[in-house]
Amino acid sequence: MYDVEKIRGDFPILSREVNGKPLVYLDNGASAQKPQVVIDAVTRGYAEEYANVHRGLHFLSNLATEKYEAVRGTIARFLGADEDEIVMNSGTTEGINMVAYGWGAANLRAGDEIILSVMEHHANIVPWHFLRERLGVVIKWVDIDSNGDLDPQRVIDAVTEKTKLISITQMSNVLGSVVDVKSICEFARGRGIPVMVDGSQSSVHMPVDMRDIGCDFFSITGHKLYGPSSSGAMFIRKERMAEMQPFMGGGDMIREVTKDVITYNDPPMKFEAGTPGIVQMIGLGAALEYLMDLGMDNVAQHERDLRDYARTKLDGLNWLNVQGNSATKGAIFSFTMEGAAHAHDLSTVLDKRGVAVRAGHHCAQPLMQHLGVPATARASFGLYNTKAEVDTLVSALELCHELFA
Ligand SMILES: Cc1ncc(COP(=O)(O)O)c(C=O)c1O
Repeated sequence: MYDVEKIRGDFPILSREVNGKPLVYLDNGASAQKPQVVIDAVTRGYAEEYANVHRGLHFLSNLATEKYEAVRGTIARFLGADEDEIVMNSGTTEGINMVAYGWGAANLRAGDEIILSVMEHHANIVPWHFLRERLGVVIKWVDIDSNGDLDPQRVIDAVTEKTKLISITQMSNVLGSVVDVKSICEFARGRGIPVMVDGSQSSVHMPVDMRDIGCDFFSITGHKLYGPSSSGAMFIRKERMAEMQPFMGGGDMIREVTKDVITYNDPPMKFEAGTPGIVQMIGLGAALEYLMDLGMDNVAQHERDLRDYARTKLDGLNWLNVQGNSATKGAIFSFTMEGAAHAHDLSTVLDKRGVAVRAGHHCAQPLMQHLGVPATARASFGLYNTKAEVDTLVSALELCHELFA
């Protein structure tokens, strides 16, 4: 039984007021709030268990190493992967840059093609542009349809003998559209083409399983998963790890350094240089345990109910232009208001009612160009949101309409 009121009690910040109104936090797509178990794990990490990891022989260093390394196992369980397929990092931006430099720069050359969709986040665009600028690789863009869905067949149709990588989000951070990445992976595997899946949004809202999806790279980012910022991980299939060069050099990722040569640590450590976000990762471990205790199927069901409720309510506002209308989308709604108000104005008025939404291009400028809008306001729901909060959003939007229309 999913008891949303009880769950809300786990998140201290949700009981605060903003501008004299109860907080209605609908900016989960940007970053999610933290449950007490995460706050406690971080506090304990610093108050009782802190030292640098991997390098010491003293009690606290061993304890911190044990706690930190245990998180690798937790991430592996969360993703349905093996521990040695998990590279821990600060989040998706670092993760995709690591794949671009570590795998891309080592395996791609001028004229090779990388396939992206128009609804990627800049984190899954800019590193590939670097390779376009520096190596001469070619980026091929795949469009979405009028509902905001990405038909896997369009990706498959874009593949040529020059295609060397497909890098696609599993859930749009703007439209909430969910991509059937499994079908893309099935096809690509038959052709030996690696697939990188940006799971930054999907992993927060639905169960994800690496063996089921069949991808080569899959990225998660901790702060969206109710964990600390600067925590995250990249799943990398072992064959692909073997094809990679280290992205960053420094402590921990080497076995031996002499004046003339270096030898590397075994993967995944080979790809983790320097002191990591020790306590942040311990906090992420607590967040993933929390999610697994709730059950990602239950989280997904709760958010589907919220999505359906919000969709019906927002559809009733005929002056609101909701972008994308995918039947299977997550509970993320991007909108503009007819005849009025820049998205920033909408966000400012909503904030006065205690409703936190994001406004702007959401780091998805090619998608904004595709939609023909400069910006949208975005309400993105999470596991602790309620139907009553949808009602508050709707009445605050009605106020915006009165003010701006
Ligand atoms: C789909 C998607 N990919 C990548 C990112 C980048 O994540 P981070 O900034 O945590 O590295 C985000 C964050 O908004 C996102 O929504």
